[in-house]
Amino acid sequence: MTAVIQALDAFEILDSRGYPTLRVVARLDNGHAGTASVPSGASTGRYEALELRDGDMMRYGGKGVLKVVSHVNGIIRNRLVGMAVSPQEPIDTTLIVLDGTENKSKLGANAILGVSMAIARAAASAAGVPLYRYLGGASATRLPVPMMNVINGGRHAQNSLDFQEFMIVPHGAPTFAEALRYGAETFHALHDLLHRAGHSTAVGDEGGFAPDLRTIEEACELIVAAIRKAGLRPGVDVALAFDPAASSFAKDDKYVFAKSGGKTLSRDELLYNRLLEVYPIVSIEDGFAENDWDGFRLQMAACGDHIQIVGDDLYVTNPRFIRRGIDSRATNAVLIKLNQIGTVTETMKAVQMCRDAGWGYVISHRSGETEDTFIADFAVAMGGGQIKAGSLSRSERLAKYNRLLEIERELGPAAIYESPFLTH
Ligand code: PGA
Ligand code: ZN
Repeated sequence: MTAVIQALDAFEILDSRGYPTLRVVARLDNGHAGTASVPSGASTGRYEALELRDGDMMRYGGKGVLKVVSHVNGIIRNRLVGMAVSPQEPIDTTLIVLDGTENKSKLGANAILGVSMAIARAAASAAGVPLYRYLGGASATRLPVPMMNVINGGRHAQNSLDFQEFMIVPHGAPTFAEALRYGAETFHALHDLLHRAGHSTAVGDEGGFAPDLRTIEEACELIVAAIRKAGLRPGVDVALAFDPAASSFAKDDKYVFAKSGGKTLSRDELLYNRLLEVYPIVSIEDGFAENDWDGFRLQMAACGDHIQIVGDDLYVTNPRFIRRGIDSRATNAVLIKLNQIGTVTETMKAVQMCRDAGWGYVISHRSGETEDTFIADFAVAMGGGQIKAGSLSRSERLAKYNRLLEIERELGPAAIYESPFLTH
């Protein structure tokens, strides 16, 4: 017999930046339970589902989530108690209807997502299977290739870099465990190179270094040198990827590199062609602003046949925007963030659209994270072979990687680790 939801309990916890977020515990009538914590972004897309905060300046600078807690422990609990814990879709539909707004602003996307994830976990527990198996079925055996953000800039660090994320991608490793070693050894080599050059080795929000480098090229040179210093081959064992998060430095129809000295580029000048010629880059995310669809299409025409072009703020994991992207060939991949859309079911629908279009998809953390490892299981469940979970420091990032090590071990010889990238 399917287990029934008996209780929901939400409370305020702190995320990796020390700001409040939500933890939800879902308890079932058969004694099983599931817990989930909600992440929070800094460079959020304009059309993301709404993260509701108290606005009470006497607590956490207005960032408290007690209102959201009361929504879970009141109206949501009253509606969901007594419902079957699975399948997931009726639960999520009930939450969407109960909220009744386009962007989940009445109950808060943070309330809705916390409940949605906690219930999925409780259902997996009641079914006696790991979360990746519950959500992905028996074919969920593919470990994701990680995109590891080893140099932080943009809104994630107080330094001179306008690009938000410089990532390493150990796509040539034979297993996930080896990929993690490639990543960690490159990260440590990068530490030594920065230190020797007199740069800061302090880290930004996602655990990557946040040095005051002069140019994008200098960051790329250092990363390539670090890959070599770690005894690995740039482009073969470990490639590069960027998330410029260009919305954060777009002004009108121009791109202004304010943090690094004020250079202004047009869409055509920004195009990344020179970087792509010089460095082994496999993926660029949000290379243009969230409203610059022409910029994305230009980039697709220039290099979409051999580089992954990812939309993050452009799509905000919303099937409506992803449909527009597919129809207009704006990119060939989508960044997938559960809290941009707000339920597990809608996120899975976004992934399904990518699959149907033959597009790539990257399951992603947020810059504000917790020790929750939901996205590690989710990445294996969705099987797209890519995750973006931060650098090789800060335990809220490593928690995801450590969970993937656990999953790989559990899968044994059935585990698959394969590059999802077009070789170039
Ligand atoms: P955010 O950044 O979590 O601060 O939005 C992550 C990203 O842009 O991919
Ligand atoms: Zn992004």
